[in-house]
Amino acid sequence: MKKVCIVGASGKLGIYMVQHALDRGYAVVGVCRERSVEKLDAFKGRIAVIPGATNDREVIKRAIARCDGVLVVLAPMGVHHYASGTAQAVLDYADPGARIVFSSGWHITRDGQDVYSWKIKVLVKIVGRLARLARMVDLDDQVEACRRVFASDTRWTLVRGSDLEEGESQGLPVWSRHVGDPILKSNITRRVDFALFMVAALANDALVHEAPAIVGCKTPSALAHADLAIG
Ligand SMILES: NC(=O)c1ccc[n+]([C@@H]2O[C@H](COP(=O)([O-])OP(=O)(O)OC[C@H]3O[C@@H](n4cnc5c(N)ncnc54)[C@H](OP(=O)(O)O)[C@@H]3O)[C@@H](O)[C@H]2O)c1
Repeated sequence: MKKVCIVGASGKLGIYMVQHALDRGYAVVGVCRERSVEKLDAFKGRIAVIPGATNDREVIKRAIARCDGVLVVLAPMGVHHYASGTAQAVLDYADPGARIVFSSGWHITRDGQDVYSWKIKVLVKIVGRLARLARMVDLDDQVEACRRVFASDTRWTLVRGSDLEEGESQGLPVWSRHVGDPILKSNITRRVDFALFMVAALANDALVHEAPAIVGCKTPSALAHADLAIG
């Protein structure tokens, strides 16, 4: 892995991913909205920044050209297919053979085998509906974006984050294939470690065509079921 593009570099997850990618010695290209470029000032001179909407196909085409890794924050913002537009542009224009790693939440299911707590169900149904009514967030479009990823024959991984918290890194999160698996019960991951998992996935071929649901490696459920950890 030599050069990676981070689509959505200026958000909380994005900024952590930039740092992890630089730590690994990768050349980094970041894409973010024009108004957010200044959020990347701390990296001035160390990364290239391409301003633009992440669902602008020409912006994505230019940004991910000749990248062997692409990290994508799938943001379900607004009601104009932002997440699915972003995913489609990346899937269409990534170099053949490039590793592509997308971020989403636990609410995304690949095979319908995930088992959700009432809390997640309520959150997705009610908060999702209210946010769409307010034209702020469109979770259905994030679902559509992920459906397109799952159907793609590119070398994708879709990382499904649990609830997130700030704090020092605890190390690489553990993962499982289905929400509801005992190892995931604690439902909390440090955001810096979500980013770590995304960046590490670029170099982990065992995660190609997987949709790992992750949880912090020091959480009670991860420690109690360490024998069930995959990988
Ligand atoms: N937050 C959680 O608890 C949680 C839990 C599980 C999974 N996730 C996943 O983690 C990822 C990002 O989470 P995060 O906590 O890092 O969120 P974040 O900091 O809010 O970043 C979200 C991204 O959305 C962009 N964005 C915000 N408002 C926008 C708008 N109106 N139009 C277009 N883009 C907009 C941001 O770009 P700007 O910098 O330009 O604003 C940023 O790239 C997502 O894939 C999400 O599904 C989050």
